[in-house]
Amino acid sequence: MKHKDIVVSGIRPTGNLHLGNYFGAMKNFLKMQETNECNFFIADYHSLTTHPKPGDLQGNVKQVLVEYLAAGLDPEKATLYLQSDIPETAELYLFLNMNAYLGELQKVTTFKEKARKQPENVNAGLLTYPTLMAADIIIHRATKVPVGKDQEQHLEMTRTFARRFNRMYKVDYFPIPTAYNFGEQLVKIPGLDGSGKMGKSEGEGNAVFLVDDPKVIRKKVMRAVSDAGPTEMNQKKPEAIQNLFTLLEVVSKPDVVSYFDDQYNNCNIRYGDLKKQLAEDMIAYTEPFRERIKELDSNEEYLKKVMDMGAEKARASAQQTLRDCREIIGFRKIY
Ligand code: TYM
Repeated sequence: MKHKDIVVSGIRPTGNLHLGNYFGAMKNFLKMQETNECNFFIADYHSLTTHPKPGDLQGNVKQVLVEYLAAGLDPEKATLYLQSDIPETAELYLFLNMNAYLGELQKVTTFKEKARKQPENVNAGLLTYPTLMAADIIIHRATKVPVGKDQEQHLEMTRTFARRFNRMYKVDYFPIPTAYNFGEQLVKIPGLDGSGKMGKSEGEGNAVFLVDDPKVIRKKVMRAVSDAGPTEMNQKKPEAIQNLFTLLEVVSKPDVVSYFDDQYNNCNIRYGDLKKQLAEDMIAYTEPFRERIKELDSNEEYLKKVMDMGAEKARASAQQTLRDCREIIGFRKIY
């Protein structure tokens, strides 16, 4: 029998899932759950860096769980769990922090960005975000981590920490995991505001959420940044226009993309038509999620069952790793 890959990935409960989360991560989760040993979690420890209120945290966790399930994650195929249900993660995070250095943590792009954006809240959790992420991944001794392009550097750090642990204790215990996107490059889905990536906190109108209703999607897309149109045949697309095409490529049929591409190259393009088509294709793509989100949202009993089942499975795997690590490090056996 073919050896199954152990897969881990998570999403922070800091708002609804958007098309960036879907095409950067979730789409791979769905494929991978069919043939691998998958662990998908809701990263609630990570969300504490922004100090959420308890009620908001609970609401956001439920939302991500509902959206995970609505998108098609199957608790019978994959282990779906809440990060904080596995406190062993925090213990492994502590071990890893002893061998993570201030200089390397301070160099991480996401840390520098966050420190710039929120100078009043540059907490130690923000600095050690990559060690917590490494703990999430190696606690199941995972080999593949489906994530978007923005997580690439964090994955590099995970590889460094795993190697460092092995070297330090002269063991070959942790496999070295890789960031993964089905046989291709990692994905970066752009937002609608002309530059950068689609994100939860990138400002009003930048992201299209799976729960957005058709009216909202149409409004957001029609307001997307574009320009006055090409002035020369076959001219290179400026970033804002390339972004619209990238979005079209993920939700529309190939002939639709090539139709607008030809129009652009011949200087005949009408961005209003492109946007109308993009909005309708996004609506069609997200329609089934909205239906299932509504159904799942009121099924508290089922949601609790899924979380309990996931916690039990994930914990068994995490406890085994911690038992091994404690022994490798030289601690007394306690369980
Ligand atoms: P988060 O919650 O910011 O995003 C969840 C997933 O969505 C991907 N993503 C995107 N992909 C492409 N284009 C975009 N515009 C876009 N926006 C988001 C992210 O790459 C990610 O895969 N640190 C992680 C959560 C985490 C984690 C882990 C992931 C914690 N521990 C261990 C993997 C393994 C995060 O903040 O993701």
